[in-house]
Amino acid sequence: LFTPVILAGGNGVRLWPLSRRQRPKQFLSLEGEGSLLANTLARLEGLDMAAPIVICHEAHRFLAAEQLRQAGVDEATLLLEPEGRGTAPAIALAALLARRQERGAPLLVLPSDHHLADDEAFRAALKPAARLAGAGHLVTFGVVPTRAETGYGYLQAGEALGEAGHAVARFVEKPDLATAERFLAAGDHFWNSGIFVLRPDDYLDALAAFAPAILAACRGAMDGAAVDLDFLRPAARAFRESPAGSIDVAVMERTDRAAMVPLAAGWSDIGSWQALWEALPRDADDNALRGDVVCEQSRGLLVHADSRLVATLGVEDLVIVETDDAVLVAKRAQSQQLRGLVERLEAEG
Ligand code: GDD
Ligand code: MG
Repeated sequence: LFTPVILAGGNGVRLWPLSRRQRPKQFLSLEGEGSLLANTLARLEGLDMAAPIVICHEAHRFLAAEQLRQAGVDEATLLLEPEGRGTAPAIALAALLARRQERGAPLLVLPSDHHLADDEAFRAALKPAARLAGAGHLVTFGVVPTRAETGYGYLQAGEALGEAGHAVARFVEKPDLATAERFLAAGDHFWNSGIFVLRPDDYLDALAAFAPAILAACRGAMDGAAVDLDFLRPAARAFRESPAGSIDVAVMERTDRAAMVPLAAGWSDIGSWQALWEALPRDADDNALRGDVVCEQSRGLLVHADSRLVATLGVEDLVIVETDDAVLVAKRAQSQQLRGLVERLEAEG
């Protein structure tokens, strides 16, 4: 048994202009059917799961509630953050809620921006993860790296823990390129999938040891939490006292209780147009096309047309995204750098 905890608080700026502040990527159907959030929930169907806890920014509460309804999830707690402070406090709120409800089962912490090609392989990996979490480990799933990606965390597999898991000898969040290249060459390093299995008490104990200010603020926020319709609102003033931080840096890099279970499920983080292009089915010319799109002598494109016809001739390796009020044309390989452009657009109003 798990308590699913779905992290849905990211802003997804690198998927502009589809992903917007008012409607970030986890609420969009980027893969075809269903939003990323709905697909994350669908991944859990039929498993022995308690009612999920979904954590998002309060501005997105109706979007999240609507998508839960559409996904057929009628028993969920929607925890609303007055502002995002990162994954460490978000998971702390969920752990405190689970503890208050006397749910000691491990939390299955799921980001809402992941693509998994093979849901069955994911489900199979849950069992050993639950076993390790039951023994007090903070468990993550490790993915065999295929490139020196600097946007991920890396873990080095240590001693075997039973048949399907390893202790984590070292955890390094978002290394620089030279380090990532070294990890890739070493052969015993995995990407951190960002999916965690941990008991609420073990996580809270780790916070007490490594990030007591986060724990104190989140405790205060949950002590003052208010029920509002179907939503649970932690006390805003207390929550804002929390330092910002990710579980990766605040806990996983420091704990000696980290363990990992290998995951070979066609995993990717849909963090950029490039990553989405890689995850989507493509035609014979390596184009991934959505909407009313006609391409000639064009290769390696990701084209999304919301409402108008988009036609291309003789171009390669581009991202073209047409929406009501904005059109993006970018080199696909450069789409990781979109954040800077979007921040400039926001600054210039
Ligand atoms: N509720 C809430 N509040 N959710 C949040 C917040 C927050 O403040 N910040 C991020 N999230 C959600 C995002 O929506 C996403 O689903 C998930 O938490 C992870 O956050 P990201 O910001 O996407 O993290 P990342 O991709 O840079 O890094 C993490 O994931 C990588 C794999 O995808 C780390 O865990 C890396 O180590 C890992 O490799
Ligand atoms: Mg991510």
